[in-house]
Amino acid sequence: MMVHTMTADEVLSTTRAVRKRLDLTRPVERELLLECLALAQQAPTGGNRQGWGFVVVTDPAKRLALAELYCREYRRYRTEPRGTVSTAPTAQQATLARVFDSSDYLADHLHEVPVYLIPVIRRPMANQLIAGTWGSILPATWSFMLAARARGLGTVWTTLHLVHEEEAAAILGIPYAEIMQAALIPVAHTIGTDFKVGARMPLDDIVHWEQW
Ligand SMILES: Cc1cc2nc3c(=O)[nH]c(=O)nc-3n(C[C@H](O)[C@H](O)[C@H](O)COP(=O)(O)O)c2cc1C
Repeated sequence: MMVHTMTADEVLSTTRAVRKRLDLTRPVERELLLECLALAQQAPTGGNRQGWGFVVVTDPAKRLALAELYCREYRRYRTEPRGTVSTAPTAQQATLARVFDSSDYLADHLHEVPVYLIPVIRRPMANQLIAGTWGSILPATWSFMLAARARGLGTVWTTLHLVHEEEAAAILGIPYAEIMQAALIPVAHTIGTDFKVGARMPLDDIVHWEQW
């Protein structure tokens, strides 16, 4: 296990969106998932009330049904202008082509990924601060993904199945009116464990000191 060999900075800088390097042939040990889930639970929660949780899906029939919902939306998205390379600025086209190649692969193989993690949270009331809801589930989910990385597991944040959230809720027995799904995170052992630091825009472009 890698958990004691990676520094916090290595984990934070190399937790990539893993798609092509998910090992589709190897099951994920429940013990490893429980360790990641226990670490995720240490994340902060608005109002100090844990109104969130996770649905862990390993059942092949359920994964197939959820993957079908994902692919339905993914195929539609790929026909839109924002889902094609040619509409992007020239400088970004090569990167975008790589990301699409990788996402096409994920869509084709999603049903084969051994585990899905679905973060869930109480659906916000009309007068409730939306930031409080998202802010309570996203840190825990990212903590899970970091803990997974430290254990040789790969993950990728996905959201497209949420276009069909109500159908997904029916597949999983989630009470749709009360409980909202936040993402679908495929989880598998990675093929190799060497992941690089991601390319990001210069810090100066995104950081505003003292004022905008
Ligand atoms: C809110 C959100 C939604 C995303 N939805 C999807 C998705 O539906 N499918 C997918 O393949 N990747 C999805 N991603 C993954 C991003 O494409 C990925 O994080 C990005 O390409 C950066 O990859 P890197 O960390 O390897 O640099 C999503 C990421 C975020 C944060």
